Amino acid sequence: MTTPDYSEKIPNNVSLHEDRRLQRALESWQPDFLTWWQDMGPTLPAQDVYLRTATDVRGEGWATFGHVPMKDYRWGIFLADRNPDRTIAFGQHKGEPAWQKVPGEYRSELRRLIVIQGDTEPASVEQQRNLGATAPSLYDLRNLFQVNVEEGRHLWAMVYLLHAHFGREGREEAAELLHRNSGSQDAPRILGAFNEETPDWLSFFMFTYFTDRDGKYQLGTLKESAFDPLSRTCEFMLKEEAHHMMVGTTGVDRVVERTARVMTENDTDDVAGHGAIPLDVIQKYLNFHYSVSLDLFGGETSTNVANYYSAGLKGRWLEERRSDDHVLTDDSIMVDALIDGQIGVTEVSALTGLNTDLRREYIADCEGGVKRWNRILERAGVGRRLYLPHVAFNRQVGAFAPIEASPSGDRLTAGEWESRKGEWLPTDTDKTFVRSLMKPVYERGKIASWLAPPRNGINGQPFDYEYVHLV
Ligand SMILES: [Fe+2]
Ligand SMILES: [Fe+2]
Repeated sequence: MTTPDYSEKIPNNVSLHEDRRLQRALESWQPDFLTWWQDMGPTLPAQDVYLRTATDVRGEGWATFGHVPMKDYRWGIFLADRNPDRTIAFGQHKGEPAWQKVPGEYRSELRRLIVIQGDTEPASVEQQRNLGATAPSLYDLRNLFQVNVEEGRHLWAMVYLLHAHFGREGREEAAELLHRNSGSQDAPRILGAFNEETPDWLSFFMFTYFTDRDGKYQLGTLKESAFDPLSRTCEFMLKEEAHHMMVGTTGVDRVVERTARVMTENDTDDVAGHGAIPLDVIQKYLNFHYSVSLDLFGGETSTNVANYYSAGLKGRWLEERRSDDHVLTDDSIMVDALIDGQIGVTEVSALTGLNTDLRREYIADCEGGVKRWNRILERAGVGRRLYLPHVAFNRQVGAFAPIEASPSGDRLTAGEWESRKGEWLPTDTDKTFVRSLMKPVYERGKIASWLAPPRNGINGQPFDYEYVHLV
């Protein structure tokens, strides 16, 4: 493990210079990445941005702050430190030493898992590329850039693994990661939620709360992997991902806080005329982003995922904190199911139900956000509350994909759904209204009408700090 050197073409802590072939391969991918960033990355030109850059994975080094000229931004390769004694925590290889090389028999499965994770990283940059034009403050603009450069770095993390461990096929997959684009007709991103637009900042906050949180859980399962380089990569990515969650959590906090304030000050639910976002509209955006994010966990049951687990490729969330045998061949789990067309549950083997296990961990985590937003409403003296819709609501993947259900979990006919879905999901009118509020505020210390300023700035700086210098 070395300390990354920012005078190198590709800063890294993986001793890249010791493997000239790999170094050359990555150096030839680098210009394609930079072209992709030019073409598909943030559209708002910035002179420099107050960014957190990793200069070391240890101590405070992973979070070095400073104004960085965007044209000089350097994406590096960082793996968490290696634990030479690490053993596999689950599955049929439990107790054996973690793998430093990809076993031939799991090559294509591991490659697939890395490609699917890798595909989401640049996708979100593409989805968010136009948001700079409507940033509600310099603080928020800075956070957007921070999220974007880190998602770019997460792509590097996956591309490093593909180049280092998967030969020619890995290099081809790395090229494809830049070729597919979010929302493209010909070559869309692999997962549905990553082809949806992020057209406004309410969507951005919901996305970073709900969809980046899916990423956190997926990375958590890959961090358990028997393939040690993947585990160490994900461990470090999770550190960066925590900031994305913070942007989402506090972003929604601030929207709710502003709405509650306008409601109480004017004694009305109708805050639109005051430049705030009505609670109904916030709830609809929440419903949308939560339900499409639930789809990202796949079907309730999956034999592929059972096999990944038994093989040691992908574990459970906080695998080592579980008190069972970590093999699960004798265990069972209740999973959501349609029983004679009704919403219910059914018992399956714990291994095939692993997607459900992960989705439930995720849902419990999401409930934390709703609780905190409701505390903000309560403290402001607003009686209404936000909620997470039922798991059967607006699903395109899994047991409930064939049916329609209300947010409270009542089954609906196709006709009822069509006539009522505008009560629960953002309508064109809602989206147009939200977009009408999206006027850029680039003046230091100023903020748009529809959200409260943050409680804390970045790295101890005040809210009115010059987080971004625009061109
Ligand atoms: Fe990421
Ligand atoms: Fe993220």
